[in-house]
Amino acid sequence: MSVERTLSIIKPDGVEKNLIGEIYGRFEKAGLEIVAARMLHLSQEQAEGFYAVHKERPFYNDLVNYMRSGPVVVQVLEGESAVSKHRELLGATNPDDADPGTIRKDFAASIEENVVHGSDGTDTAAEEIAFFFGDDGVCPRTR
Ligand code: CMP
Repeated sequence: MSVERTLSIIKPDGVEKNLIGEIYGRFEKAGLEIVAARMLHLSQEQAEGFYAVHKERPFYNDLVNYMRSGPVVVQVLEGESAVSKHRELLGATNPDDADPGTIRKDFAASIEENVVHGSDGTDTAAEEIAFFFGDDGVCPRTR
């Protein structure tokens, strides 16, 4: 095990449902520390760029429109095995397949509107963190 950072996004449906505190509470209770956070309304360019890996997928345009439908809250989480721990808290991409007690099982309406995004590996996490927070936007915990 090692200390990792991962990128997490509370998507527009999660913000609309007023779940920011609930979701942050789950992260913190699991031992993850928030070391960067911002709320923003994604531009077309940001939404397309962030999900560029899905550009050829049939759901890409709907995904971009959904991610631009309202504000999102983006955070960096730090802790032991943060990438996999975060994804365990989220549950499967499709809430129908998610384990009981996960965020998506509890709150997601569909595979499209699935409340939260989480990086799928440490390399992706580093790229996604840089996408939103640049080189110096993360604030290490000093106590
Ligand atoms: P996320 O974990 O942010 O990664 C890509 C997103 O695309 C995913 O969550 C869903 O919001 C969406 N997505 C993934 N698969 C599908 C699909 N089969 N149909 C529609 N949307 C999808």
